[in-house]
Amino acid sequence: MSATAPIAPNDADTAASWRALKLLADRVRAHDGLVTSCTLLVGDEPDAWVGPGVQAGEGRLVSVIVHGHGSELPSLRPGESRFALDDVIVMQPVAGERLPPAAAAMIELYLPYCLGAAHARAMGRAFAVSHFAQSLDGRIATTGGDARWIGCDENQLHAHRMRALCDAILIGAHTLRTDRPSLTVRHADGEDPVRVVLGDAGDVCCLEQAGPGAILVMGCRDGAGRACSDQVEHVVLPSTNGRISTRAILEALYRKNLLSVYIEGGAITTSRFLAEGNIDVLQLHISPMIIGPGVSAFTCPSIESVADSVRFGPHVYRSIGDGMMFVGRLAL
Ligand SMILES: NC(=O)c1ccc[n+]([C@@H]2O[C@H](COP(=O)([O-])OP(=O)(O)OC[C@H]3O[C@@H](n4cnc5c(N)ncnc54)[C@H](OP(=O)(O)O)[C@@H]3O)[C@@H](O)[C@H]2O)c1
Repeated sequence: MSATAPIAPNDADTAASWRALKLLADRVRAHDGLVTSCTLLVGDEPDAWVGPGVQAGEGRLVSVIVHGHGSELPSLRPGESRFALDDVIVMQPVAGERLPPAAAAMIELYLPYCLGAAHARAMGRAFAVSHFAQSLDGRIATTGGDARWIGCDENQLHAHRMRALCDAILIGAHTLRTDRPSLTVRHADGEDPVRVVLGDAGDVCCLEQAGPGAILVMGCRDGAGRACSDQVEHVVLPSTNGRISTRAILEALYRKNLLSVYIEGGAITTSRFLAEGNIDVLQLHISPMIIGPGVSAFTCPSIESVADSVRFGPHVYRSIGDGMMFVGRLAL
């Protein structure tokens, strides 16, 4: 699949689209049923609907047919732009007015994730999107563990938008110990997700100090993780040799009403989700740099034949800042 338009800078069309997209994510979350179409009103007073919606205010009406449904949508309304969404991530304009490029870029990239709650309900587990920033030679950190910042500023903005669209953000214990991250939403307008650490998290004070939101430590044994406050909850899940099945992790999040999760690494964590087929969308930001020896993005088992490699079905390459982002669905 070909490259798409660059992610837009923070102009008026971008900001208006973002507000409408966040509203849509909220509406989909509150809608307990199949989503066959949705509609956005992008303007000064944005709105969003599951289904056809009504244009009650000024702005651009954007409708989306989901998975070949959409028969409930009326014939095109004046000024409306219509898209079709297939295979979870593939957004194509199908009829009506062309959107300004900044609005089109936002809607084509982020609308798929606004439907995360609907996918989760259909699967009975959290909808999982994974993101890495890697070098041209496939490194996500130096040998000493330095990863700041492999991605550009625009990639950080993107990651923070994704955090704001998801109910939870998840990292492995080693990333917590190495990076001491905040995992909050600071570069975009939106709510902080619930922060989840897998494994023996140890000291999670960096998360507690970064914001008042809930923190989940999911491990194999009780008390894995020292907390500074009662904002931390420990969840013990069954494991084999210290390893929790990634399906069980996503089901546990779902039971806690966390319907979408943004997995931000590291390599061990993401590779386990990947190997068990529990990543719904992979976002791989590729930066124009070569690191040399370091932490590889994936720790997949060795294979004899290229034919045995992990393959992707629908995918797209997006221009972000000075890099590219691969966005793909695992081949079934
Ligand atoms: N460039 C980027 O985008 C990016 C993003 C994130 C991280 N990083 C870098 O990646 C490096 C860390 O990656 P890493 O691969 O070494 O470690 P990691 O994936 O962050 O953490 C691995 C640990 O998480 C726990 N864990 C993961 N999956 C589990 C499961 N299914 N069940 C139970 N526990 C599980 C285990 O903890 P226990 O050992 O306690 O069992 C495991 O040892 C750091 O240098 C960081 O800077 C880069």
